[in-house]
Amino acid sequence: MLRGLSLVCLLAFAAQAKQRNVVVILADDGGFMQTAYNNTVCDTPSLDALASRSVIFNRGYTGVSSCSPSRSVILTGLPQHQNGMYGLHNGVHHFQSFYNVRSLPKILSDNGIFTGIVGKYHVGPMEVYTFDYMKIDNVNQVGRNITHMKGFVKEFLDKANEKEKPFFLYIAFHDPQRAGGHYGPFMNKWGDGQAGHGRIPDWKPIQYNPADVIVPYFLPDTPATREDIAAMYTSFNRMDQGIGLFMKELEISGHLDDTLVLWTSDNGIPFPGAKTNLYEPGMGEPMMISSPDHKQHWGKVNGPLFATFVN
Ligand SMILES: *[C@@H]1O[C@H](CO)[C@@H](O)[C@H](O)[C@H]1NC(C)=O
Ligand SMILES: *[C@@H]1O[C@H](CO)[C@@H](O)[C@H](O)[C@H]1NC(C)=O
Repeated sequence: MLRGLSLVCLLAFAAQAKQRNVVVILADDGGFMQTAYNNTVCDTPSLDALASRSVIFNRGYTGVSSCSPSRSVILTGLPQHQNGMYGLHNGVHHFQSFYNVRSLPKILSDNGIFTGIVGKYHVGPMEVYTFDYMKIDNVNQVGRNITHMKGFVKEFLDKANEKEKPFFLYIAFHDPQRAGGHYGPFMNKWGDGQAGHGRIPDWKPIQYNPADVIVPYFLPDTPATREDIAAMYTSFNRMDQGIGLFMKELEISGHLDDTLVLWTSDNGIPFPGAKTNLYEPGMGEPMMISSPDHKQHWGKVNGPLFATFVN
């Protein structure tokens, strides 16, 4: 009788328990170009808005300062030597996780959570990194074309609502990584409608003056560096515009106030001394965590490596 009663109580509690969701937004080679990290040149209104609802960590670090291994750590919680992804996944690099690794999306899906990925994948094998909803790769369309990505984010959220399931959505940009080793040609010729390269309807390109950019302490202050950084800002700002669109979709779906949003990057910026290096500019990442349940911590900058939310 007592046991029966407590089971009923438990079920009633479970039925009342609020649905909680998670969205992870990952930059590709992102750096500290947002206002929340004291860069006042690159325009980042969407990240600023997210920062005002987040705890901003200024000692966030990646597991590995390289794309595939970093993503494998994020998606398994295991260091790369434990999950098997020692290096880049695709082509000649040929690294992949062990088949017996249980990835985060798999564990969540097995437990009734609707999982999705939109954007860059770059991990493997597919058997390990399975999501219920997958719109991946194709560098330009699903990772930089923010209109295209927005459509997928909306579709995913609609499906989650139809299924009435809590969800985990992992959105991985290709911005602000270089394309084919370049910034200039890519940023100038693709996506803004120039030279017959098509448009991204939602993107309002912002070009930056090389004289205005902030040259990080570890780079030589030369005209070439400045031009490169100016183009990276354009790419970073496109991502910011995308984040604004996705946060709007989250709001429209009715889940702005029951979704934890985590924003970070796989590794440091694609410049000497940063990406693929063990130095601070390679390992250190921007990281913000937005919890609707912890409004009292919104906008705070957190210094320690590990933080606990204390009410
Ligand atoms: C930005 O600069 C201010 C003033 O120096 C500082 O208090 C704050 O911690 C900095 N923000 C980050 C994320 O480092
Ligand atoms: C970006 O995606 C939108 C929506 O799918 C599409 O109409 C547009 O042509 C794409 N732009 C480019 C440059 O491919």
